Amino acid sequence: MSTLAITDLHVSVQTDQGTVQILNGVDLTIKKGEIHAIMGPNGSGKSTLAYAIAGHPKYQVDSGTITLDGENVLEMSVDERARAGLFLAMQYPVEIPGVTVTNFLRTAKTAIDGEAPPIRTWLKDIRTSMANLRMDKVFAERNVNEGFSGGEKKRHEILQLELLKPAFAVLDETDSGLDVDALKIVADGVNRAKETTGLGIVLITHYTRILRYIKPDFVHVFVAGRIAEQGGPELADRLEAEGYDRFLTPANVG
Ligand SMILES: Nc1ncnc2c1ncn2[C@@H]1O[C@H](COP(=O)(O)OP(=O)(O)OP(=O)(O)O)[C@@H](O)[C@H]1O
Ligand SMILES: [Mg+2]
Repeated sequence: MSTLAITDLHVSVQTDQGTVQILNGVDLTIKKGEIHAIMGPNGSGKSTLAYAIAGHPKYQVDSGTITLDGENVLEMSVDERARAGLFLAMQYPVEIPGVTVTNFLRTAKTAIDGEAPPIRTWLKDIRTSMANLRMDKVFAERNVNEGFSGGEKKRHEILQLELLKPAFAVLDETDSGLDVDALKIVADGVNRAKETTGLGIVLITHYTRILRYIKPDFVHVFVAGRIAEQGGPELADRLEAEGYDRFLTPANVG
């Protein structure tokens, strides 16, 4: 059983005002096939955790470990992490001018698999996945995320997820900005990916709405750079009803 394990992770960033400590000892273990929802107030460090897993150079890991089946992820480059099976759908996907969706996906797939995908099945796979996500064919020839609406960017992230078939995916607010129909389509995409590949998922979200479609096995509450509480799906309902007040002591605000 494949496992992504994070222990006592401390992460900081350098800013013009000096070092800012963001993660203060995160412990999280995800097994393949499990869905973990992470909820928590704005600025509590959820995206920072996602970036630290993906290897964003801005985020300095000061201590703690991230391992994938016992292998040290922190020693891997961003590319190596992707090849090892880690995938991040970003909260704010970036535009890549001059690179079409088709070329981007093919390059990514080739880099991850170590060989180019066979052209015929690959084109069919792209067409099928785009149809599943109700993405118009014209997106294949558009530049990555350039002029995409918020919801279109999120669908493109799930298109990557479907085609790249990672072992573990971190989905950072993939539900934000989606209309009701798109939410269902994106959730179906995630569930399909889980059924076909059995991947493990970390789903960062502010809303229980998506958790009605993507059923979490565990819910974690992120506060001030660490996990303050964890539980089952019922915890998400409680957070929606009560908010985060009971976690926000003067010591851990901001
Ligand atoms: N590059 C950076 N430079 C300065 N501060 C940063 C940087 N990245 C993150 N931070 C700070 O770290 C804290 C955590 O940010 P992060 O984006 O991880 O929060 P979040 O939990 O994802 O919030 P949200 O729910 O609003 O997306 C914030 O106070 C943020 O301003
Ligand atoms: Mg965030």
